[in-house]
Amino acid sequence: MHARVSERPTRIVVDLPALAGNLRAIASHVNVPVMAILKANAYGHGLVPVARHLQAHGAGQFGVAFVEEGIALRRAGITLPILVLGGILGRQVAQLIEHDLEITVSSLDKLRKVEEAAQALGRKAVVHLKIDTGMERIGVHSYSCAAMIEAAVASNWCEVKGVYSHLACADDPASPMTQLQLERFHQACAHFTRIGAPMPLRHLANSGGVLHFPDTWLDMVRPGILLYGVLPDPGARATVVVRPALSLLSQVVYFKVVRAGQPVSYGATWTAACDTRVATIPLGYGDGYPRALSNRGQVLIRGQRHPIIGRVCMDQFMVDLGPDGTAYNGDDVVLIGRQGGQGISVEDVARQADTIAYEVLTRLNDRIPREYPLPAALP
Ligand SMILES: Cc1ncc(COP(=O)(O)O)c(C=O)c1O
Repeated sequence: MHARVSERPTRIVVDLPALAGNLRAIASHVNVPVMAILKANAYGHGLVPVARHLQAHGAGQFGVAFVEEGIALRRAGITLPILVLGGILGRQVAQLIEHDLEITVSSLDKLRKVEEAAQALGRKAVVHLKIDTGMERIGVHSYSCAAMIEAAVASNWCEVKGVYSHLACADDPASPMTQLQLERFHQACAHFTRIGAPMPLRHLANSGGVLHFPDTWLDMVRPGILLYGVLPDPGARATVVVRPALSLLSQVVYFKVVRAGQPVSYGATWTAACDTRVATIPLGYGDGYPRALSNRGQVLIRGQRHPIIGRVCMDQFMVDLGPDGTAYNGDDVVLIGRQGGQGISVEDVARQADTIAYEVLTRLNDRIPREYPLPAALP
């Protein structure tokens, strides 16, 4: 047994060795270094424990969305390079440099802000130049990036470590958008050659790129969701074998018989057709468990699948065990994961909640304790 971090019956159990296995599988598939993407609490798996494990198991570098995530990693003693991928304001630059975080430079104006802050601190900033090849989120358009590239290369206060872009449609193996984005990216990179500057690290591939588009692997890949053992889209091709690392578990805290004709939960949206046994499970949308699973989701108890009935509340919801079903207080409940040969995947939950696996994972919030058992104690 491993030590419980909390007496709360609801918990997330993370299989760290599975994450390391996924990293290895991706790295050997692409044969270039992997920037492990850890944004949004490592896709709900827990930022620091995941970073520590992947740092020890071959990650080449980390990527996060926000400065604060990078600082949390540095404070926890993470020493690998960390790129902050998101858009930034001038006032955030000093913090980035002070915490040894690599900076996304996405315009000439941002470059100037980075130079000013670096000069004031007397310390060079490490930057990756962001090219927009079709996502229209952040980055200089590929057709007008020459001035930013030239200025960055000439800067005394910036070391241009990387140049990158982000793929908008790579989770769809049939989308022509990725080829177009790749061509635009190559055109942008050609500016380095044109001005006689060394080519920095070129990176482009997210999980979809890793799975479907070998031409996008270039010098480094940036997988997120695939690292956590989940495909980016139900239509994605599983060209790399990965396994999910997160289980969401709870325990029955109440059991009763609901009489025929009685409604259940807020709004009385479900009514018992016959006398039936009902269990109450202690988590809800206040934990990030989707309210959209009201009358749609399922859980596993005693190896059996049972439907969620009525609305999911903030902290609790009910499941129908049927007229002859059994469950006792304290029985284990699986919301995501496996039990008795049955499984509920993140993808299943996403489909039932009419959303994507990314959202299901990243909304599971800090109210739920995370546990990282040794392999022998994993569920
Ligand atoms: C810039 C960037 N790179 C890589 C990723 C990882 O994406 P995915 O989880 O689809 O692999 C993301 C996440 O959306 C991102 O914003």
